[in-house]
Amino acid sequence: MKIIMLGAPGAGKGTQAKMIADQYGMPHVSTGDIFRANIKEGTELGKEVKSYMDQGLLVPDELTVKILLDRVGKEDCQNGFILDGFPRTIPQAEVLDKALAELGDAIDYAINVDVPDEHIIGRMTGRRACPTCGATYHIVHIPPRQEGICDGCGKELVLRDDDKLETVKKRLDVYHEQTQPLIEYYQEKGILRTINGTAAMQDVFTEIINILGK
Ligand code: AP5
Ligand code: MG
Ligand code: ZN
Repeated sequence: MKIIMLGAPGAGKGTQAKMIADQYGMPHVSTGDIFRANIKEGTELGKEVKSYMDQGLLVPDELTVKILLDRVGKEDCQNGFILDGFPRTIPQAEVLDKALAELGDAIDYAINVDVPDEHIIGRMTGRRACPTCGATYHIVHIPPRQEGICDGCGKELVLRDDDKLETVKKRLDVYHEQTQPLIEYYQEKGILRTINGTAAMQDVFTEIINILGK
């Protein structure tokens, strides 16, 4: 199964994508996570993408597409994958569709996690992430067992560089302008499924499982 997670920044794409990946045993591919790992390791790619991310802007399509196609070309993605944070522009979606079509393949579902803007700010500023395993928490909604410490690996949780208020606002603008048109794009293909992302994490997950099947 090949799945795309759509939704505004902070809608819960990453949270749900990890749960889906566990449930179905498929790789979770997040372009944002790949970029952050590169920034952390100080690679050339990391240096190139950092300024875009810190400003809340999209990394140029050409660069992003290359990274993504490399990743989904790997062995572990051959039977399916869940994409989180890609595509984010119509040209990205077109390149992905074309690459899959060449293999006689296509995306099965685009899951749109719908959360209104007014919820987003609180989610982002309360988010804490584990720099080691990528687990995501929220200081109020989804707190770790011990404050500031990852349940899974015991590492200290961090606030993402781009979760500052001004940057979150910019990311929301960029979302509405460049990413939201994808909703119509996938609707026209008949594979869009929109779910209510303001429900509790587990209820959102149940709604997704009902769509994807057991
Ligand atoms: P990316 O990492 O993809 O960030 P984003 O889209 O802005 O999304 P987030 O990761 O912030 O939110 P999310 O939807 O995953 O929410 P989460 O599950 O964490 O991209 C970052 C940057 O990289 C971009 O700005 C861009 O520069 C670049 N980039 C990446 N991909 C690109 C591409 N394809 N093209 C170009 N540039 C690209 O949840 C948020 C919070 O809410 C958490 O604290 C969580 O615990 C909490 N939460 C989750 N679910 C619930 C719930 N049901 N109830 C209450 N709280 C909840
Ligand atoms: Mg995410
Ligand atoms: Zn961890």
